[in-house]
Amino acid sequence: MVTLSPMEPDAWEAWRASSIRGYAADKVRVAAWPFEGAEERATAMFGRIVPDGLHTRGHEFRSIVSQAGEIVGALWFAAEDEVGRGAAYIWDITIDPDHRGRGYGRDAMEALEPLARSLGYDTIRLHVFADNAVARHLYLSVGYHETEVTMTKRIGVPGLAPAPDATAAPLPLTARSDAVDQGLASAHAVGPRRRSRSTPLHP
Ligand SMILES: CC(C)(COP(=O)(O)OP(=O)(O)OC[C@H]1O[C@@H](n2cnc3c(N)ncnc32)[C@H](O)[C@@H]1OP(=O)(O)O)[C@@H](O)C(=O)NCCC(=O)NCCS
Repeated sequence: MVTLSPMEPDAWEAWRASSIRGYAADKVRVAAWPFEGAEERATAMFGRIVPDGLHTRGHEFRSIVSQAGEIVGALWFAAEDEVGRGAAYIWDITIDPDHRGRGYGRDAMEALEPLARSLGYDTIRLHVFADNAVARHLYLSVGYHETEVTMTKRIGVPGLAPAPDATAAPLPLTARSDAVDQGLASAHAVGPRRRSRSTPLHP
């Protein structure tokens, strides 16, 4: 069992920095952004999404707290359209590396349901990269289903070396990409559909 406690300002600051780093790493890994300037770009984007930081209306920043009272991860979700109505969108869920594989991710996803319901939401949505086999397995196993599939094929440009296509082949469940392990990959990598069409979340 875990509880989802409102993040304290200090925890929020630390999580924010690491979430931005992880987001930039994800975008570079899937070859959506060049390495140069990725963190600055992610920082700017974060600022646009949560202009009032921890207190941005409709955004919930929660620490995932174990039964022993230890913070083991973080969860960020927000109204997809209307605050307190319709769908909540998970922008980021992360279990700290030392605590992974012990059921905290599953517990957090389960604890989110009554919390989101209590805030008025009847649906939860999220985005996950195809190569994040652990997260995909987790979501499927707690009742989520895939609603859209984005496909990519690197076609290259004559004279330029092709960028690696990190998303082409899903990893086996037991293999985990270093980037996913190290970063706060990426429930928030695309954002709610409505936003992704109207904001620079899709470069
Ligand atoms: C994805 C993540 C949140 C899962 O949290 P977790 O606490 O490690 O996962 P759990 O221990 O609850 O395990 C969930 C399921 O994944 C499986 N799993 C966990 N780690 C695994 C691994 N290294 N290899 C294979 N399966 C694994 C578990 O067996 C479990 O499935 P089961 O109940 O059917 O056995 C966590 O790994 C994480 O923070 N990853 C980096 C950030 C990230 O990718 N976030 C998601 C973005 S969409």
